[in-house]
Amino acid sequence: MKKVIALVLVMMFCVSGLALADAKPEIRMGTNANFPPYEYHEYIDDVDKIVGIDAEIADAVAEYLGYTLVIDDMDFGAIITAVQTGKIDFGMAGMTVTEERLESVNFSSTYATGIQAIIVPEGSEIASADDLFVEGKNYIIGVQESTTGDLYCTWDIEDEGLGTVERFKNGADAVQALVTGKVDCVVIDNEPAKAFIAVNEGLTILETAYAVEDYAIAIAKENTELLDKINGALAALTEDGTIPAIIAKYIPAEEAAE
Ligand code: ARG
Repeated sequence: MKKVIALVLVMMFCVSGLALADAKPEIRMGTNANFPPYEYHEYIDDVDKIVGIDAEIADAVAEYLGYTLVIDDMDFGAIITAVQTGKIDFGMAGMTVTEERLESVNFSSTYATGIQAIIVPEGSEIASADDLFVEGKNYIIGVQESTTGDLYCTWDIEDEGLGTVERFKNGADAVQALVTGKVDCVVIDNEPAKAFIAVNEGLTILETAYAVEDYAIAIAKENTELLDKINGALAALTEDGTIPAIIAKYIPAEEAAE
């Protein structure tokens, strides 16, 4: 009997040892998954998954570095603090590199360009970005809170007494407020803007953009080792065509050129 127990124990050790040898360490990404085509929820075989450009690039980076990717969906405004406190290893959320954020975190090399676009109802009297600065018009501008759209419109328009900024938890809610006439326009990144107007009738994106910016991955200041590793992975995965292919899958070239 003792022998049998010993044998069973030995077998259990072997199996758990094998499992351990096989298990890759986790790397945790924080995002705000209501931002197509960069990150959004999709039901695949009845399972709720976070997909999109950032999710797939992060998966490729994790794989390249020998980690298993875990995605933590949170408010956009919570991501930088979560990086600083170590709740997550990195933040990846179509996040723009800004001077202010660089005071709190490091950013990887950039992997995409974003444009702050303006969505209006078709036929709106707002025809260009300049129209938002006309004194006395006092337009109500919808934004996702804590995004660059929020920051720029707050500084340039609200603080100057030229209009009001309405902040929403996510871009889809801001666009919904535009559909129901609660705001006059929405300032948001151009690719999500295209995705949102595709599913809401009567909206259009203005030709003139509000700002052009770079997207990168946010990493804690003290974690320069991870910064170097991620930059190495981004370079290799760009070089071998993995990242360009992921971007092209979600943003077809002819559309990106528009
Ligand atoms: N690019 C903008 C920023 O960095 C908006 C990003 C919003 N991203 C998101 N996943 N909701 O502020």
